[in-house]
Amino acid sequence: MKVFVIGATGGVGRRLVRELVHRGDDVGGLHRRPEQATDLRDMGADSFNADLAAMAEDDLASMIAGTDVLVFSAGAGGGSTEMTTSIDGQGVSKAIAAAQAAGVRRFILVSVFPEAWRERPRSEGFEHYLAVKKQADVELAASELDWVILRPAELADGVGSGTVSLSQALIHTTVSRDNVAATLAELVHRPELSRVVLELSDGPSRIPEAIQALDGQRRGSIQEKPA
Ligand SMILES: NC(=O)c1ccc[n+]([C@@H]2O[C@H](COP(=O)([O-])OP(=O)(O)OC[C@H]3O[C@@H](n4cnc5c(N)ncnc54)[C@H](OP(=O)(O)O)[C@@H]3O)[C@@H](O)[C@H]2O)c1
Repeated sequence: MKVFVIGATGGVGRRLVRELVHRGDDVGGLHRRPEQATDLRDMGADSFNADLAAMAEDDLASMIAGTDVLVFSAGAGGGSTEMTTSIDGQGVSKAIAAAQAAGVRRFILVSVFPEAWRERPRSEGFEHYLAVKKQADVELAASELDWVILRPAELADGVGSGTVSLSQALIHTTVSRDNVAATLAELVHRPELSRVVLELSDGPSRIPEAIQALDGQRRGSIQEKPA
């Protein structure tokens, strides 16, 4: 499968690149600093150097032409509100337009729980981040693309358990970046799961089984077990 990752050098993105290459996929990744090319190539991916905020939509469309699945895992990472708007918001809009122009149908977006960290003191920047992320979800969900929106809980860097909770509605807790990347890789290979918003946290289910169960529920094929 040919997969292109926007945000390929990030905490989630680089884990995803590694996982996809390990599965035998043909992976391309966008990076904004020239020196990141070596890192991506060492992982077995093709590297594409451009600043998502500055690049033209046509250039992104050319880069992703022929891609089966586009994964967007970029983010301004707590930068200024302008950077959040530019990457987490307009960056997604640009990627949606580029996917449409290039004929790339499947688009997997890494988003966030809209109610994340409600227990913490509010800050203007964080409220802006949540609003921009939600607006990006809305835009993708309204598109004609074959989309999946994955909302991970708070990201953690520890070693992934390989087990998760995955559902259309979860309580916001935490999830390892390893588990997010492994779930994204599985979603890349599960095209039957489409046009769905999913929330993800660490939990008890192995990732393939969690996705299988969800797919079964969506098809209405899970039978009630007798008491
Ligand atoms: N932090 C959390 O707890 C949390 C929770 C839920 C969801 N999320 C979301 O999960 C996603 C992945 O998170 P993460 O921890 O992997 O983020 P990260 O480590 O900050 O990675 C972000 C990626 O976006 C890239 N990027 C930023 N600006 C760019 C630009 N102008 N042009 C090209 N690439 C650019 C970064 O490139 P560089 O390597 O050059 O910086 C990096 O590859 C984000 O969308 C985030 O909003 C985060």
